[in-house]
Amino acid sequence: MNFFRCLLLVMLISSVSHSSAERVNSSEAELVEDSGVVIGEQDQIDGGFSSLDGMLHWAIGHSDPATLKEAAQDTQKMSMDELQRRQLELKELVEKLKMPSDAQVMQIAIDDLNNSSLSLEDRHRALHELLILVEPIDNANDLSKSGGLRVVARQLNHSDAQVRKLAAWVLGKASQNNPFVQEQVLEFGALPTLIKMVNSSSAEEAVKALFAVSALIRNSIAGQDMFYAAHGYIMLQDVMSNESLDIKLRRKAVFLVGDLAECQLQNTEKAELPIFNDRLFLKSVVDLIVVLDLDLQEKALEAIKTLLQLKSLEPLILRDFCGLEGALKRMKLQLEGLMADENKRDYAVDVESLRGEVELIFRQNLGHL
Ligand SMILES: *[C@@H]1O[C@H](CO)[C@@H](O)[C@H](O)[C@H]1NC(C)=O
Ligand SMILES: *[C@@H]1O[C@H](CO)[C@@H](O)[C@H](O)[C@H]1NC(C)=O
Ligand SMILES: *[C@@H]1O[C@H](CO)[C@@H](O)[C@H](O)[C@H]1NC(C)=O
Ligand SMILES: *[C@@H]1O[C@H](CO)[C@@H](O)[C@H](O)[C@H]1NC(C)=O
Ligand SMILES: *[C@@H]1O[C@H](CO)[C@@H](O)[C@H](O)[C@H]1NC(C)=O
Ligand SMILES: *[C@@H]1O[C@H](CO)[C@@H](O)[C@H](O)[C@H]1NC(C)=O
Repeated sequence: MNFFRCLLLVMLISSVSHSSAERVNSSEAELVEDSGVVIGEQDQIDGGFSSLDGMLHWAIGHSDPATLKEAAQDTQKMSMDELQRRQLELKELVEKLKMPSDAQVMQIAIDDLNNSSLSLEDRHRALHELLILVEPIDNANDLSKSGGLRVVARQLNHSDAQVRKLAAWVLGKASQNNPFVQEQVLEFGALPTLIKMVNSSSAEEAVKALFAVSALIRNSIAGQDMFYAAHGYIMLQDVMSNESLDIKLRRKAVFLVGDLAECQLQNTEKAELPIFNDRLFLKSVVDLIVVLDLDLQEKALEAIKTLLQLKSLEPLILRDFCGLEGALKRMKLQLEGLMADENKRDYAVDVESLRGEVELIFRQNLGHL
């Protein structure tokens, strides 16, 4: 096996379009980097990973570093022609040898995770591999069918924070826009564990847990009912109103509120969740529009704009208990201040236009009373 891994690596190292060293570093960087602000944007690792990339990762993870280094040095001495010829030969060879499928590589990672004597380092590596491999929807489905995601979900209770964080990230990625996987993951009870994880003192763990919660319940009525039953809205309210929390976490929380309201609007036959008329919950959203962070304010305004379209929402609660009118006025002043700053001007103008829209809708709602 080592022979094969080494061959594969040499082939990738000599790939003419990009140097392997760069690729390895950049793919590592993408994984290490905290890429999450909002579900559907930064949580996506750019571009799909082909099975070749999955293989590269796997080969690196499972090979002897000394051999790899030697292979890399050897290729550096070759001329371009030699490299191209070598690459062609290796490609043919790899095609002849049977290339392990993504499913096989995933199974190795799952078997590793399912082994309680696995070292922490190897456990992190197996989860990193899965993070890449679950990107294509077919792989996510396969992993779910083979029981692999259940093994990943069990890692949410691991004593190591990094393991928990990576497990949440893998589950979130696998569930994203995939109703089949959403349903499976919800079935084995990952949601309440993830909701508790958002309380973690590690901001990174909390951010990934909230990403996974969002991915699991997005557009899923069953998921949203479970979320409600597990008091997920209290978690959201706590996050939105806690000023000492990571701003990314608070942005994600209010984005999820808007997303839940939007889903409610699209599914008119579904009974509206009681949270949309819970005054403390609504106040925690309204309070965000005067927190000095344009991104957070914009997301809060978007959420309020959607909430205002729900039937069960009582505009008087927003006016009298939440102080929406006053908050919108204060925000207008803030934004006018920001418009004097050349760097923030454009963004502030956009947010002001959204703010005006929300104010108008709110006045109309009050006018209908
Ligand atoms: C990749 O990372 C290694 C060490 O982590 C470093 O020595 C090497 O210069 C890096 N390569 C590139 C292209 O950044
Ligand atoms: C994990 O290991 C247990 C035995 O320790 C086994 O029963 C189970 O089938 C394994 N699960 C997977 C998905 O491999
Ligand atoms: C579990 O991992 C340990 C340590 O890496 C290894 O020695 C053992 O063979 C593994 N067990 C199984 C069933 O793969
Ligand atoms: C984590 O542990 C708790 C308490 O033992 C349990 O209720 C929960 O189902 C576990 N979560 C997962 C995803 O296994
Ligand atoms: C999060 O922690 C707070 C304070 O420690 C606690 O009141 C709350 O119940 C916790 N929430 C969850 C969902 O565990
Ligand atoms: C706010 O978050 C901090 C940091 O995680 C935590 O220590 C504190 O208990 C939270 N405050 C409340 C009121 O939950």
